[in-house]
This record gives sequence, C-alpha cells and structure tokens, in this order.
Amino acid sequence: MEIKRENWGSKTGFILAAAGSAIGLGNIWKFPYIAGENGGASFIIVYLICIGIIGLPVLTAEILIGRTTQRNPVGAFYKLSQSKFWAGLGGMGVVAGFLILSFYAVIAGWAIGYIIEALNGNFYNFTEATSSAVHFNNLVGNIYWMLGYFSLFMLITMIIVFAGVQKGIERGSKILMPILLFLLIILMIRGVTLEGAETGLEFLWYPDWSKINAQSILIALGHAFFTLSLGMGAMLTYGSYMSKKDSVPNSAIQIVFLDTFIALVAGIAIFTSVFAVGLDPAAGPGLIFHTLPSVFIKMPGGYIFSILFFVLLSIAALTSAISLLEVVVSFFVDELKWKRHTAAILLTLIISLLGVPSALSYNILADFTIFGLNFFDLVDFIASNILLPLGGLLIAVFVAWVWGFERVLPNLKEGAEKLFEKYPAIITTWKIFLKYFSPVLIFLVFLHSIGLLDKILNLFTGS
Ligand code: PHE
Repeated sequence: MEIKRENWGSKTGFILAAAGSAIGLGNIWKFPYIAGENGGASFIIVYLICIGIIGLPVLTAEILIGRTTQRNPVGAFYKLSQSKFWAGLGGMGVVAGFLILSFYAVIAGWAIGYIIEALNGNFYNFTEATSSAVHFNNLVGNIYWMLGYFSLFMLITMIIVFAGVQKGIERGSKILMPILLFLLIILMIRGVTLEGAETGLEFLWYPDWSKINAQSILIALGHAFFTLSLGMGAMLTYGSYMSKKDSVPNSAIQIVFLDTFIALVAGIAIFTSVFAVGLDPAAGPGLIFHTLPSVFIKMPGGYIFSILFFVLLSIAALTSAISLLEVVVSFFVDELKWKRHTAAILLTLIISLLGVPSALSYNILADFTIFGLNFFDLVDFIASNILLPLGGLLIAVFVAWVWGFERVLPNLKEGAEKLFEKYPAIITTWKIFLKYFSPVLIFLVFLHSIGLLDKILNLFTGS
C-alpha cells in the first residue's frame, strides 16, 4: 500500500500550511476567553510554560513521525512499531478530529454570520456598551441562525477537502495570514489607545495566583495542544508532506512562535477593549463577539475593518477546520480504502450531526448539562483537555521509548544539520524533555485534575 504523496511546493509552504492549521479560532476566540475566565496573567504564564516545555518538544516529535513515515496517523504509528496498540493512538486522533470539528464549526459559523452583521452595519445600532452582548445573545438564541451558518461552514470545509486542493491552501495562506496579523496589530493599537485600557493591561501583566488551580492548569495545558493542533495527528499529517531537506525543529520553532505571537496580540487587543468598554472578561465563548463590535464602531474606518476582520477570522477557522477534516478523511481513505469523495461527504454529514447538539447548547439545550457542562463545553473538554494531552503524552512516550532515540535521531538530523552544528545542546535538551518532562508533567496534571494526586500527597504527609 504505497500512497502517492504530494509535497509542499516550497519550504515556506509547510510552515504556512501548518501555521494555518495552528492559527485559528484557538488564538483569537478561545485563548482570550479562557484567559479571561481563569484570571488573566497567571493563566497566560502557565500557558506559555506549557507551550515551551511541552508543546514545542511534542510538536517536533509529531512532525518528525509524519515526515519519516509519510503516512496518515494510524499508518504512521503502525509502520514504526508494527503494533496495533500504537496504531490505536492514531485512531484516538481521528476521534478527536471528529469531536473538535463538530464544535469548532459552531463558532466558525458565528464568524461567518458576523460578516453579514458587519456588512449590514448592525454594530452601529448599539447604544450602550452592553448592546453588543445583547445582540450576540439574540443571534445565538436563534436556532436557524446557528444551524444555518454552522452548516454553511461545514459545507465550505467539505468542498475544499473534497477537491483536495493542497495548492490552494498553500497559496491562500501565504496572502491571508499576513493580512490577518496586520489587522490584529491594528486592533491591538486601537485597544491600547482606548481610554481605560490600563485596567486591561494590568489584567494581562499582573498575575493573580489565587485563580490558578488544577483545573485551570489542565485547561492551559489542553489549550497549548489545541492551539498548536497537537496530539491528534494534524501536524503529523501535514509533516508527512514535508521534504527531508527541510529542518523539523526549525519549522516547529517558527510555528510555535507565530501561533503564540498571534494569540498574545489578540489577547492584548481584546482585554484592553473589554475593560475600556466595561464588559466582563469572564463572559465565556461569546467574549470576542461581545467586545470587538463595540471597538470597531469607535475607530475610523471601523465599518470596513469589521467586515475584513470577520472575513479573515472565518478564513483562519477554515484553514484549521480543513486540517481537522483532512485527518479524518485521510484515515478512511488510506486505511479503510474509502474513495476520497465519498469519505469527504459522508464524514462531513456525520460530524455535522454530532455538531447539532453543540449548536443547540446556546439555545434550546442550554439547560441540558452533564457534569455541570453543556453539550458544547463537554465535547470541547473531552477533546481538548483529555484526548489531546493524552495523545501528546503517548506521542512523547512513543518517540522516546518505543521508536527509540537511536532510530529517531538520524531522521531528526536530516535537514537540520546546520542548526545542530551550531547548537548541539538542542538535541540533548529535546531528548530529556520528551523522555521525562513531557510525559511526567502531563501525567501529573491529569492526576491532579482528577484529584488523585492530592490524595497520594496526603498519604505521605499524613494529613
Ligand atoms: N489549532 C486550531 C486553532 O487554534 C484548532 C485545531 C486543533 C486544528 C486541533 C487542528 C487540530 O484554532
């Protein structure tokens, strides 16, 4: 079974496509609202630590598995280990892909819906700071609005994956990503110069450690994986199209840098505005939709900027959604021998069905909760905070202990000769992080968040 593999057109092709997968709603929609709910600065510090000491080493490992095997996640782990158990790790990624896309498309639908709101100039009807929140709640309360834009987004994602336009993704990202960054920087400048922005900056700079607990550390860790598209095979799949001439660690560093930079710029733009306008930083998933419209109407050219912003946000979501659907589709095509077109259509339908209760969590199913979470939050929690970190843990264990560094390192060095000549210590550091730090830390966070670690510690301290 030899799969014909496309390669990225250029060295930047991989970086842009991978950055396109990484940069999405996670950076602009999710990061600000979970930071807002978990105390701001302190949460951001924990998140940055997770990105640096767990995200970066695991990202390098995941891309490397893809590039070495040139396979989809299931095939890749099987090829390297000849074991069904490890192939199952790839299968877990496919499940995560199903779950994430099902709720991701709900928010992406909001972004598309807001393009129309912006075009109609509806933000200019807002009379008070809270009008935008009221407006948002009216929209998400309407099941036709919710399901309509949700389905539209799923349809667009399907059409692109159906056609398999690798080239389109690559070319598109090259132009759109820089524009998105530029626009976010403008929004950030507008935010910082708003009257009352200092409170927002304080919220971002001064940590309040009382807000950090096991749960919020798990959320920060989960988000480090979510935002880097890590732990479910998306980066592995994209890495499988990467050339052996390019350096895996260099690419990983660039992706992490770009992704983190965009999240921080978005964070500054949102929080300065939230406090300047007097809104609640812990407003939850609606946060950017509550705040940004009020900022747009306060800036020159706001009408155009608001349209452009939601168009770019939708596109950023689209490039991420494509990578999610691509993982699922490529598994069914490669391993189960489905036709690409059948797979794209059928799987989109199944994911859409799964997404319906998530979409309805904002209206008719709002009171339906499991473990205190509505359906949307529950699927997000299972996928982002359990499956992705667990996937990352197993990827680290796999590379360090199963594949084994004596076989891993020659592959890692291909294309990265220059980097390692200059900084040979990177290899040792990476090995230690992957072998000990990442697995142990992720494991501890898990234990802690299910309360077990406390019980064990109490046994020792006798309290
Ligand atoms: N990284 C994407 C974002 O931040 C979401 C994503 C997660 C995409 C996992 C692919 C795989 O929006």
